[in-house]
Amino acid sequence: MRSVSVMEHLNGQLARLCEVVGTDPAMPMDLLTDLLSSHGWRSLSEGPAWPSNVADDHTPVEFSLAYSNEEPPALRILAEALGSPPNVQANMAAAHQFIDAHTDRLNLSTSRLASVSDLFVADDPHGTFALWCSLVFSSARPPELKVYFNPEVNGIERAPDVVGEALYRLGMAISYRTMLKHAVRQGELGRNDRLSFFALDLHDEPQARVKLYLSHHHAEIRDVVRAASMVNGVDTSELVDFCTVAAGTRRFDGRPLVGSYTLIEGTDMPVGYSIYVPIRGYVSDDREARVRVMALLDRYGFDGAVFERAITALTQRLLLDGVGLIAHVSLRLGPPRPGVTVYLSSEAYRVNPPRSRQITTAVRQPVRTTAATR
Ligand code: TRP
Repeated sequence: MRSVSVMEHLNGQLARLCEVVGTDPAMPMDLLTDLLSSHGWRSLSEGPAWPSNVADDHTPVEFSLAYSNEEPPALRILAEALGSPPNVQANMAAAHQFIDAHTDRLNLSTSRLASVSDLFVADDPHGTFALWCSLVFSSARPPELKVYFNPEVNGIERAPDVVGEALYRLGMAISYRTMLKHAVRQGELGRNDRLSFFALDLHDEPQARVKLYLSHHHAEIRDVVRAASMVNGVDTSELVDFCTVAAGTRRFDGRPLVGSYTLIEGTDMPVGYSIYVPIRGYVSDDREARVRVMALLDRYGFDGAVFERAITALTQRLLLDGVGLIAHVSLRLGPPRPGVTVYLSSEAYRVNPPRSRQITTAVRQPVRTTAATR
């Protein structure tokens, strides 16, 4: 039997997802094909060409569904462009090539990208990536492109200066210290609190928009409450409820809780805060994750049926048979569009076994069933 290529697999999922959100699949599929470049032809059975950290099984793509009150859910793709052969620098070059090739078609404004790019380049890059791309497709607006830089690409200890300089160049230096003061626990910068992504919107807008992400390892909800409390208009009790429902715990000793500040040129303080809960680290299986996400969507008045159709667009497996299809769930507070986003894995290469089974095979103990896992 002919084996399926990674591009066929991902484009199949993408076409079905486009149908779910009511978007023409032609342009999304074309862009995804371009992002995958020659690696798209690789057969799935060969395994990943590069151990991408976009998803746990190293698929270089992650889908997400972004709900807001202003428009129907948007479909997003986070992707790592891969060089030939892939490595951090070659992948970064491939991402720049992708951006250059689509600047006109996507009506991108790249001057801000050009003004900070050199800061995120390294001769000997640290970490697993330098530059990721994210595409947003909505039936209401033309496609948008965002890029994610790795602030730690020159080493963890250099990250605060790198981000400081980038924000300075973009005219956003003033709020940076205040942000760090609120978001970082005493003595934890570069340890349990890490500057994980620096994101730049490339769609053509008069004001630059930047998102600064911090990963909080071994954190409690109160740590992100403190981080968010400096942002005007953020209701921190909403954050608490969201995290508690999503994770079923107030302490995050497994995968880190991630927070991001939204910054806009010309303001001295962040205008928004988002929280990303790595739900897959805090459930037994995707059935449990689905129940929690449905509860969150319901709470905000969003249509859970779209989410369920998106799951069906991605996989035919039983949700009980794996964990990680539903990777993160996030709450966006503030502009441009407050709402909830659900991140969905392709699982092109691997389905992570449900936690209950991981435990039984590891320690051979009877599995304790709880109401949520039954
Ligand atoms: N897979 C990585 C992680 O979980 C990066 C990532 C992908 C991510 N999508 C994300 C991080 C959404 C935060 C939010 O860390």
